[in-house]
Amino acid sequence: MPRPKILLGVTGGIAAYKSAELVRELSKRGAEVKVVLTARARAFVSPLTLATLSAHPVYETEFPTPPSPEIGHIELARWADTIVVAPATANTLSRFARGLADDLLSTVYLAFDGPVVVAPAMNPRMWDHVETRETMARLAHRGAVVVEPEEGLMACGEEGAGRLASLHKIADEAMVAARRSNSMAGQTALVTAGPTYEPLDPVRFVGNRSSGKMGYAVAAAARARGAEVILISGPTAISPPWGVELIQIETAEQMHAACLTHAARASLIVMCAAVADHRPAQPSLNKIDRKGAAWRLELVATTDILSDLVRARRPWQFIVGFAAETGDALARGREKRARKGCDLIVINDVAAEGSGFATDTNQVIVVDADDAAESWPLLAKREVAERLLDRIEHARSRTSA
Ligand code: CTP
Repeated sequence: MPRPKILLGVTGGIAAYKSAELVRELSKRGAEVKVVLTARARAFVSPLTLATLSAHPVYETEFPTPPSPEIGHIELARWADTIVVAPATANTLSRFARGLADDLLSTVYLAFDGPVVVAPAMNPRMWDHVETRETMARLAHRGAVVVEPEEGLMACGEEGAGRLASLHKIADEAMVAARRSNSMAGQTALVTAGPTYEPLDPVRFVGNRSSGKMGYAVAAAARARGAEVILISGPTAISPPWGVELIQIETAEQMHAACLTHAARASLIVMCAAVADHRPAQPSLNKIDRKGAAWRLELVATTDILSDLVRARRPWQFIVGFAAETGDALARGREKRARKGCDLIVINDVAAEGSGFATDTNQVIVVDADDAAESWPLLAKREVAERLLDRIEHARSRTSA
């Protein structure tokens, strides 16, 4: 096994002194570490310490002296399996989230398309600030793993959430991210997400409450593992993950057509979308007027896209369905997996607290082709996506072994 290559970004907060210990911890776990130090971090920790511990020069600027013919930020981005920023200051996180590239670390970040882990550390009020909340939401949405800061007494004398997470926790996430990097290189994943809108007339539609968050998280995670990703999405309010091919549709029929067009390219198909089962039989071309007290609507069934893809399955394809259920979710989900014939089904009880549509978390049960069920705890959707891809990669390595 080659050694995981971790690029550690150290930014300018008092917790920067802990980065020396983090380099040791990562090296102990078998990683090769190169450090990028920001100008402000240099005030807190010496490049000599980090260079000695990492056994590599410390990278501080895009313009080294003597001048190097290498394009530093591109070389470092190509080299790394993962970028880990610890401690990550509010300033660096905000510059990442907004795509500024005004120093070496932020430039390497923009040139890198693999998994990124950030471990913020800052004053609790800065951590709680609405700007920081927005920054963190943007980064998480793009697939960054956030090692949340801990509560405690800060160097500034204040108490609250903002202390750098434990080095063990950061090292755990860094090693997982490095292992996941490129694990799906050469594969193409087709992911569906969001609701469908089935028109009644030019202004009204029949839809559902799906936010698209789960599907977008799967797309981001697959992209970070090096897969090419085709994301077929119904209308959502969220922006697509970086680097995916986005195909926007509105109706179940359009999603069906897009899936049929692109499925042949995909070795992995993950059907997260909450596709309408029925659509209005005859949408009106003109806006329908008020029709008195009651309005009877005729609905007809849409095509079951997942079942269609399973029927046309190529031998190299792995197909995953989702099942949004209420009531006896496991029994219903098991029956659905068998009926639809997919390799794996992810069941979520949409009536449960913190689970289902529009939340940032999900609690799911995964059922495989042997009907074995695995129940996962309540997790961020991003973490559900990572575990799901781990589970899929594991299942595929067993069938190809
Ligand atoms: N699905 C699909 N095409 C449809 C409806 C659903 O491909 N027309 C997919 C969803 O993307 C999901 C899975 O099928 O991966 C299960 O969706 P769900 O709506 O829970 O299942 P239904 O087919 O609607 O089954 P039921 O109505 O019996 O619950």
